[in-house]
Amino acid sequence: MTSYKKSIAEILAPLIDGLTAEEIEQMIEIPADEKMGDYAFPCFRLAKILRKAPPLIAADIAAGVPNDGLFEKVENVNAYVNFYLSRERFVGDIVKEVGEKKENFTKSNKGEGKTVIVEFSSPNIAKPFHIGHIRSTVIGNSIYKIFDELGYNTVRINHLGDYGTQFGKMISAYRRWGNREDVEKEPIKTLLSYYTKFHEEAEKDPSLEQEARDIFARLEKGEPEETELWQWFRDESLKEFTRVYKMLGIEFDSYAGESFYSDKMPRILDELKEKGLLQESQGAQIVDLEKYGMPPALVTKSDGSTLYITRDIAAAVYRKEHYDFYKNIYVVASQQNLHFQQWFKIVELLGYDWAGDCVHVPFGMVSLKDGVMSTRKGRVVFLEDVLNRAVEKTREIIEEKGVATDNIDETAAQVGIGAVMFNELSNNRIKDYVFDWDKVLNFEGETGPYVQYTHARACSLMRKAGEELTAKAEKLEGFDASLICSDSAYELAKLIYRMPEVIQEAADKYEPSVITRHIIDIAQAFNRFYQSERIVTDDEAATVSRLALVICTKTAISNGLALLGIQAPERM
Ligand code: ARG
Repeated sequence: MTSYKKSIAEILAPLIDGLTAEEIEQMIEIPADEKMGDYAFPCFRLAKILRKAPPLIAADIAAGVPNDGLFEKVENVNAYVNFYLSRERFVGDIVKEVGEKKENFTKSNKGEGKTVIVEFSSPNIAKPFHIGHIRSTVIGNSIYKIFDELGYNTVRINHLGDYGTQFGKMISAYRRWGNREDVEKEPIKTLLSYYTKFHEEAEKDPSLEQEARDIFARLEKGEPEETELWQWFRDESLKEFTRVYKMLGIEFDSYAGESFYSDKMPRILDELKEKGLLQESQGAQIVDLEKYGMPPALVTKSDGSTLYITRDIAAAVYRKEHYDFYKNIYVVASQQNLHFQQWFKIVELLGYDWAGDCVHVPFGMVSLKDGVMSTRKGRVVFLEDVLNRAVEKTREIIEEKGVATDNIDETAAQVGIGAVMFNELSNNRIKDYVFDWDKVLNFEGETGPYVQYTHARACSLMRKAGEELTAKAEKLEGFDASLICSDSAYELAKLIYRMPEVIQEAADKYEPSVITRHIIDIAQAFNRFYQSERIVTDDEAATVSRLALVICTKTAISNGLALLGIQAPERM
């Protein structure tokens, strides 16, 4: 997008001795109060260079600014020069630029040649993909899309929890009480029930624990029978996860989970030993982190088996060597903060200079308000059930409201699932929050359905205007910016203009909610514009001009939703 800060800096540069356009650009501010203009240039720092009082400097600069139509007015107030953009020029520029670039208007090539890994979702095999996992899945997917939009090469990794001593237990339980058909029918629920039974039985008969350890040892050695069962559990679980990912429209480039690193562990242990980082402790091996204010990290158990943290270290080393990442991002719950701090430190102590390029992006927990869905003792809430319920409820609302759609199943899926995803991405990710159906599916609140509905409204205006006028608006034939300079149009154009900045901010903070917030603002501004102005009238020039702004809004909203991983239906 055209940078107005930059244009203003270029205009000011010849007026200010001793500062380059780049330096000036850095100094330009956006006033908190719109009455003070769209941009402001503070003159305090110039006092020393120019040996003049700042208010005088501001007055001189304001008087010297040539007006070629970019500004409505330029004023000096105290030590500031305030710039008020010409609405006509501004709105015209934005509509032209977005109209030309279309959905590419939010793309950038900032990340060209750099690889960003986003690891997210990472559920555990044979364990439920529950409502808590949705956070990593949805936030991670959005962060991936944001970096992709900024031109980075991206790699989506699902670090499946597919290894560890629990698989010994699962295999033992399956052999004792299992049945193939049940597993095939409902893999995760069935495997989970075996696992639970194992724990119940092991309380009565502790020898089961030893049996499980022996089985896991056989699995680690690659014994065919155990490996085959493990592989089958993994495949069946993955089928179930894939079904959920499909509903969410989410894909991965790699499913290299914990097991993938099982043969890469000896090297890590050797390196740790070489650097003198390993210590014996009751037969186990630990890395002492006391100096760094952290408890020791257990890297091998007394029976020699490795742990979750060891696999994370091996995975990071592998990823650096395999992908040469610029950033390696982990979207994982804040409960694991210490885990990540520990192993990031260990990677640093191993002497890897890229340790600082590993980023843990934590998030808070979700709890459920709705009684029906609440986690009764032992009853986990499955994400798939939540999504199905969202779709069903949306379908009821659509039927009740008589919403226009040609394909109610498709719309209900887009809106219902979109609503759950949007809700996930509405709050600052680090905050804990309560899942509340009424809030999620509200068509009027600050929700997914509201934003999608606004998008559909823009589409419906285009249909109402007809193909011919819409085509003219798209090509800006007969477009006249002076016809879209009202307060509401100007406010809307400003928000659209800020989209690329907002996306950059979301990337810098690893915070999709910045985008969520912004598209709610756009939707609200659009609805004010829509209410205060008639878009489609008999006046062709006015219709085309307003419609052009409507089309830009539609592009901005659908791009924003896409970055959140949410669809933008044209009718609803
Ligand atoms: N499987 C883990 C869990 O469900 C999350 C994995 C997070 N990623 C990692 N590299 N440690 O808790």
